[in-house]
Amino acid sequence: MERKIIEFSELDDARVVVELGPGTGGTTRALLLAMRPDARLLAIDLDPRFTEIVAAIDDPRLIAHTGSAADLGAILKQHGLPAADVVISGIPFSTMPFEIGSGILEGVRDSLSADGRFVAYQFRAEVARLADPVFGDSSRAAPVPLNIPPMRIWQWIKPPVGG
Ligand SMILES: C[S@@+](CC[C@H](N)C(=O)[O-])C[C@H]1O[C@@H](n2cnc3c(N)ncnc32)[C@H](O)[C@@H]1O
Repeated sequence: MERKIIEFSELDDARVVVELGPGTGGTTRALLLAMRPDARLLAIDLDPRFTEIVAAIDDPRLIAHTGSAADLGAILKQHGLPAADVVISGIPFSTMPFEIGSGILEGVRDSLSADGRFVAYQFRAEVARLADPVFGDSSRAAPVPLNIPPMRIWQWIKPPVGG
């Protein structure tokens, strides 16, 4: 799964990377391995027990933050970070109310730099129903090879502002 996330994140030119819902940090470690030496990774999880696990990863590029994906813009500012080049999400959009999910995705779009990418890996396609109206039809998707239960990964590109 990590390989597909790295591929879809296109990290070669990314300076500011955000991970929503790092959980126990498996994807966080994989992202750090693939990121540029001068990039930053802001990992945001609602659950302080997960943030504590992620914060124990010894890497000066990493910021572990306890908070909600719904506050992404404010959290980036709080840490003095500019717009994100890529936001990667493992948070479960299928289990949250529609308005909350939509609000999170609008916040992600507004927190991305020009041509920034939003990457989501999920068991359910709810994220696509929510993200397509926010990002437009810029998405690509692929199954995550060999994952049981079947998981899909999506990528959306920030639409041109005003476009
Ligand atoms: C399926 S786990 C992610 C798996 C993780 N990437 C891994 O490799 O272990 C989902 C995570 O999203 C977090 N989460 C759920 N809703 C969130 C929200 N609104 N903002 C931030 N994190 C959230 C949960 O606390 C949980 O850690």
